[in-house]
Amino acid sequence: MCGIVGYIGSRDASTVLIKGLKRLEYRGYDSAGIALINGELELDYRKGKGKVSNLERALRKDSLIGTLGIGHTRWATHGEPNDINSHPHLSESGNIAVVHNGIIENYNTLKKKLIERGRVFQSQTDTEVIGHLIEEIYLASPDITFEHAIRLALKQIVGTYGLAIINKEFPDTIFIARKGSPLLLGIGEEEMFIASDASPVVEYTNKVVYLDDGEIAIVNRNSYKVKTIDDVPLTKEVHELAISLDAIEKAGYPHFMLKEIFEQPRSIADCMRGRINPENGTVLLGGIEDVMDELVNARRITIAACGTSWHSALVGEYLFEQLAKTPVEVEYASEFRYRDPLIGKGDVLLVISQSGETADTLAAMREARKRGALVLGICNVVGSTIARETDAGVFTHAGPEIGVASTKAFTAQVVVLIMMALELGQRKGILNRKKMKEYIRELSKIPSKVEYILEHNDQEIRKMASLFTYAPNFLYLGRSYNFPVALEGALKLKEISYIHAEGYPAAEMKHGPIALIDEMMPVVVIAATDHTNDKMISNIEEVKARKGRIISIMNDDNPEVKKLSEFCISIPSTSDCFSPVLTVIPLQLLSYYIAVNRGCNVDQPRNLAKSVTVE
Ligand code: M6R
Repeated sequence: MCGIVGYIGSRDASTVLIKGLKRLEYRGYDSAGIALINGELELDYRKGKGKVSNLERALRKDSLIGTLGIGHTRWATHGEPNDINSHPHLSESGNIAVVHNGIIENYNTLKKKLIERGRVFQSQTDTEVIGHLIEEIYLASPDITFEHAIRLALKQIVGTYGLAIINKEFPDTIFIARKGSPLLLGIGEEEMFIASDASPVVEYTNKVVYLDDGEIAIVNRNSYKVKTIDDVPLTKEVHELAISLDAIEKAGYPHFMLKEIFEQPRSIADCMRGRINPENGTVLLGGIEDVMDELVNARRITIAACGTSWHSALVGEYLFEQLAKTPVEVEYASEFRYRDPLIGKGDVLLVISQSGETADTLAAMREARKRGALVLGICNVVGSTIARETDAGVFTHAGPEIGVASTKAFTAQVVVLIMMALELGQRKGILNRKKMKEYIRELSKIPSKVEYILEHNDQEIRKMASLFTYAPNFLYLGRSYNFPVALEGALKLKEISYIHAEGYPAAEMKHGPIALIDEMMPVVVIAATDHTNDKMISNIEEVKARKGRIISIMNDDNPEVKKLSEFCISIPSTSDCFSPVLTVIPLQLLSYYIAVNRGCNVDQPRNLAKSVTVE
């Protein structure tokens, strides 16, 4: 979703801002803009619909020169994507420029009042009220400082914001504020960087301060002050960023998504590193060590997440119930909060989020905390809001995921869930040492099995993708642990290729979706040999009887599935409960190659955002 960058120092701000906005492109956006205070101490801006490269071209013709500025990539919420609605938005006088992530919920009321008092609005956005409001308060009295005016304006605003504000009267200062939308400050040598996530900052500094909700910062070249919206000064911890520049570049791959798919042998190994011991058959997850007793005694675990993370939550349900005999409920984070959930003391809410910033997941987490539940997290982004606000949790250590379609985050989330369920099963005495050793040994082989799949099936999947590039619909079927994988396969295909696809539990097909099957319908069956194998074969027969085109993801030892299938992708066997980490890999590749064949923008699919920071 929207991205913010800011710079103050001695470099050419325009160059830093454009580079920063390019690093934020992965989040999904429809327009971009920057505002600078130039050498003549005038505020100037360029903005427009479309890609950052368009803005860059426009700046080549008509440059902006200065060493302080702010920039934005917009993902439209209020008002269509067009030049006028792009950020920055200016105040009435044009002295103040604002970039904003989030939603001002009471903007209509504020706007009406501002118009009544004579302000003229240019755009249809909610954001534009901010600059007008701050300016009105600032000019109302000579006793009010600009910073004070910002704080007073923010008190009138209902909603969420990450904000960066400049005023030509203060050519050495950027003002930033946060409520519900992430913002961080990168500290350099006599220069400061502002960004909505770490990617624009890592090439300049690894020292960052994360703003928390209700905080504002006054940022100069050499110093910064953080305070609450009520003017209470704060001392903030300076964190060290762990990500490297390599991790956010394509490294020779045509797309981030492909790079991230092929990174999985390493990302899965990184996720398990130091946490499993195949010799002793033990798992130790330091991040939840302190709450292990509460987990052991929990009546049930509720897992809340969105999108792909919700699919891994579904795998988690099977895992916790089988390996730890702990009842689990899986919730869409967006629904959980609004249906008066029965959760309280003695319950555990586990939230799963790659970005750690998903607004619905955050809201679910805060609701459960308010009701007294223990709140745990599985997160990829260190320093993210969810990572910081949960009582305890486990990082997936998958490395930055830039492609909008989640791939390596999913497999790492499932691996964390496997490790959690194993540790819980061990502590509850459900899994004895022998069983634990078997599981852990098998788990330690997963990275090399993923590597095998990537090496041996890539060509076959490319061929298959070219045959099905123009199929209008797809059906994905799976049972047990592979039912969530069917959902994930369908989601991957629809989000990057725009082909309509649905995932179903294979047995559920006969209750409706079977009506769709004819000789035009590709049906992807995830038929890893497990305890549901016989039933799965019957379901495949049902598809075949209706002339559906069967593509199966199967193990070598399954001649029956092979015989029934038009296309087979054969993958190594593993324990039933680890199977999703392997079966999902061919599905990621299939959707990737189909999307490429269709000429789609794989890394930044239309309408989608990497981090969905509005509810
Ligand atoms: O960052 P999160 O894991 O909380 O994001 C949740 C979903 O927005 C995300 O998984 C989305 O569905 C992806 N585009 C899936 O590829």
